[in-house]
Amino acid sequence: MSDVLLKLDHVGVRFGGLKAVDDVSLNVKRGERRAIIGPNGAGKTTLFNAITGINPATSGQVIFEGRDVTRAQPHARAAFGMSRTFQITNLFPTLTVEQNMQIALRGLSPQKFSFFGSSDFTADERQKAEGALAISRLNSRAQTLVRELSYGEQRQLEMAMTLATGPRLLLLDEPAAGLAPSERIIVSDVIRSLPSDITVVLIEHDMDLVLSLVDWVTCLNNGRFLAEGAPADIRNNSDIQDVYLGRRHHA
Ligand SMILES: Nc1ncnc2c1ncn2[C@@H]1O[C@H](COP(=O)(O)OP(=O)(O)O)[C@@H](O)[C@H]1O
Ligand SMILES: [Mg+2]
Repeated sequence: MSDVLLKLDHVGVRFGGLKAVDDVSLNVKRGERRAIIGPNGAGKTTLFNAITGINPATSGQVIFEGRDVTRAQPHARAAFGMSRTFQITNLFPTLTVEQNMQIALRGLSPQKFSFFGSSDFTADERQKAEGALAISRLNSRAQTLVRELSYGEQRQLEMAMTLATGPRLLLLDEPAAGLAPSERIIVSDVIRSLPSDITVVLIEHDMDLVLSLVDWVTCLNNGRFLAEGAPADIRNNSDIQDVYLGRRHHA
């Protein structure tokens, strides 16, 4: 088995005349923690959407576990083990944390859940739910209604719901955005304690957070690959300093 889990080969995403992602190639190894950084509008989220299939690449190839998924539907990619976090908008506020976990594990819609009602966890579901809640630092909140959780805890629940489904690749788009400093620390602890066999690709603005979490950093600018390196080298990279300090003008 190749040690490359995700390979992007000259990936491009075009919106009309705009090349939001332009000829990006990269390899992410199994178990790696990779950050994608770059200023606003650099194409980071668009690149994620090309990886997950929400907005497929218009050129190039996305290869996951040796399989060309460039044009696969998002649900097919998810079934292969590729996962982005649930969004808060997909949480069910009037249900408990545990019930939300059950919905995620069973892949149910809220309509189906309210129709069939809540049933007991199987032993396997309980083990998966408890494991994911523990990693997400939410195990003491299993019986709490989601609407009573803080914003930060809801973000932790998104992570737990995603983890419970057993992803091999976890894509996190600004997981700490909008969080208070104390909540950011919890999110970074959760990311740090993810099982080592889960490969993580993280988009994040907070440099201190990013550089403390990942093995390798890829920087995009204007949709294009700009630079990459180990965290220790990234702070001193003059190309990256230029785009972050706005010294580099748009091409
Ligand atoms: N659905 C879309 N239609 C047209 N343009 C888009 C769309 N999504 C993103 N863009 C544009 O693509 C560029 C990259 O955006 P995005 O990937 O969101 O950047 P980032 O996540 O790095 O901030 C931006 O110029 C943005 O306006
Ligand atoms: Mg974005």
